[in-house]
Amino acid sequence: MAFPQSFMDELVARSDIVDVVGSYVQLSRKGANLFGLCPFHNEKTGSFSVSPDKQIYYCFGCKKGGGVVNFVMDIENLTFPDAVRFLAKRAGMEVPEETGDREAGRRRQRLLDLNRDAARFYYQMLQQPEGRAVQAYLDRRRIRKATAVKFGMGASLDSWDALLTAMTKKGYTKSELLDAGLVVQNRNGGLYDKFRNRLMLPVIDTRGDVVAFGSRVLDKSEPKYMNSSETPVYSKRRVLYGLNLAKKTQRPNIILCEGNLDIVTLHQAGFDNAVASMGTALTVEQTRLLSRFTKELVLCYDNDNAGKIATERALQILNNSEFSVKVLQLPRRLVDGEYVKQDADDFIKFQGPDAFERLLNGSENGVEFRMAQVAGKYDLSGDEARIAYCEEISDLLASLSSAVEREIYTVRAAETAKITPVAMKLEVQRAFKRRIAREKRAELRKDLNPAAQLQPKDRSLRYENLRSARAEEGVLRLLLLDESLFPAEAPLKPEQFSSPLLGKVFGLLWQSRESGRPVSLASLADLLSSEEISHITAVCQQPESIQNGRQALADYIRIVQTEADKRTGAAMDPLLAATEKYKDKKGTGGKQHV
Ligand code: UTP
Ligand code: MN
Repeated sequence: MAFPQSFMDELVARSDIVDVVGSYVQLSRKGANLFGLCPFHNEKTGSFSVSPDKQIYYCFGCKKGGGVVNFVMDIENLTFPDAVRFLAKRAGMEVPEETGDREAGRRRQRLLDLNRDAARFYYQMLQQPEGRAVQAYLDRRRIRKATAVKFGMGASLDSWDALLTAMTKKGYTKSELLDAGLVVQNRNGGLYDKFRNRLMLPVIDTRGDVVAFGSRVLDKSEPKYMNSSETPVYSKRRVLYGLNLAKKTQRPNIILCEGNLDIVTLHQAGFDNAVASMGTALTVEQTRLLSRFTKELVLCYDNDNAGKIATERALQILNNSEFSVKVLQLPRRLVDGEYVKQDADDFIKFQGPDAFERLLNGSENGVEFRMAQVAGKYDLSGDEARIAYCEEISDLLASLSSAVEREIYTVRAAETAKITPVAMKLEVQRAFKRRIAREKRAELRKDLNPAAQLQPKDRSLRYENLRSARAEEGVLRLLLLDESLFPAEAPLKPEQFSSPLLGKVFGLLWQSRESGRPVSLASLADLLSSEEISHITAVCQQPESIQNGRQALADYIRIVQTEADKRTGAAMDPLLAATEKYKDKKGTGGKQHV
């Protein structure tokens, strides 16, 4: 634990979750809880709840949840220690720099230093005769010297240990090199350079730190691009290639592309507002990062199937966001009688910057893009196709949240289908009703299938034994609801829980209790992953009556014990296990077994 417990407890006590969340989300009271629109997914009716009693937030839509520190981590895109510092500042508290924290901070800084030194090494190699192959590749791609310097490009050598040797000489340890993902370990424990004979593209965050590397082969071999794995200083969901430069642009928007070298070419051509998410779909974390620098995004993905899917996904993430979004569609290019896709890099090369500027100015908005996608599927000269088009387009129109948008595009769709706007409007209203009915049916299906609902959303947390897990959840819920229910002696051991996660949380709560600290979910923020904390919050959200709490707790505990005994019994005696199973099938449960 990086911060002293007493400090954390005071911080949590002084950071009321209603105040903190309330500064981001407009909340209104409904019974014991407050509700608002979820800031983590797009929605029109509020399923985001905050419980002042339990000091937790939970979204019934996207199932995200946790305590006040988790909320700040998610909404401000911060690590745990940074979220703690953020809250401390807000609460006017001084942050004690405890040893554990200083140690973690020092390790992080070492990794950043190592990355910077590695980037310098690759950069120097590019200027040396050994870097000739990479330089030749840059020439072939028409990347100018000044551009390469601006992006801090470098060359990894055709060698197994050039970087390893250079960095070891500088005093970096094996484990630091491994942690940074710059070297790899073979089966015999030997280390070798991960990046060899490649063009190196340092990934620099908005603070100016080198957090990772992208790299490209010089020929047609695979893998074409190789990027750093996730490290303590790099999470690809939270970084955009080129944003360190694009954040300084004078242009009114930011262009999102697929590829690293698209960014390089665009910047070289004067579009210093281009960024790329490296080999991943656009994430919510990235949109939050972008919102610090711009309110207008231009999606410029490849004009092929994968690119269209990526565009659609990004539009969904950006739907109802504060951004205005445009889609820049790169035309295909005729090569040997065949139209092939081109990316931004190709386009600039063949058509030039002015043509790109024209595309940028003429880019359509997200709705227009989606409407064109639908229209493109049908040959609208035939009646049947027109009918099918109307049906599909009305689904799209019905999903638009703004009435003005709905009206404008309904008229436009009517023009496309060559029907009257009135008829189109009716069609959209019908689609709207269809959607509501569909949502109701889905809701109903969920109600009819409670077992599926009881399972954690995250697959890796799935319960093996539902009966025991339900009781384990009950134990946690009651203890979190009413601390006075804690028995004097631990009634269960974490190992007796069938769900490792629930057992772990029980162990942690018990520890808090033993050391006289407040027992709350908020104190678990840095001990559980975001999926784990979300699930535990969901568990606490379920209704539980504290009346007869003591009896209920005893019942839950008995079930957990019984199920645990069954497991150990089964391990000891397969014959007994078989009979137990048989009894269970008969519906007598394991009761007489205790
Ligand atoms: P593309 O395959 O579209 O390549 O990958 P590109 O950007 O046009 O590359 P060039 O022009 O051939 O050099 C788009 C992006 O997807 C990621 C990289 O970030 C790349 O820039 N990618 C691609 C990978 O991470 N791994 C791969 O093997 C391929
Ligand atoms: Mn390309």
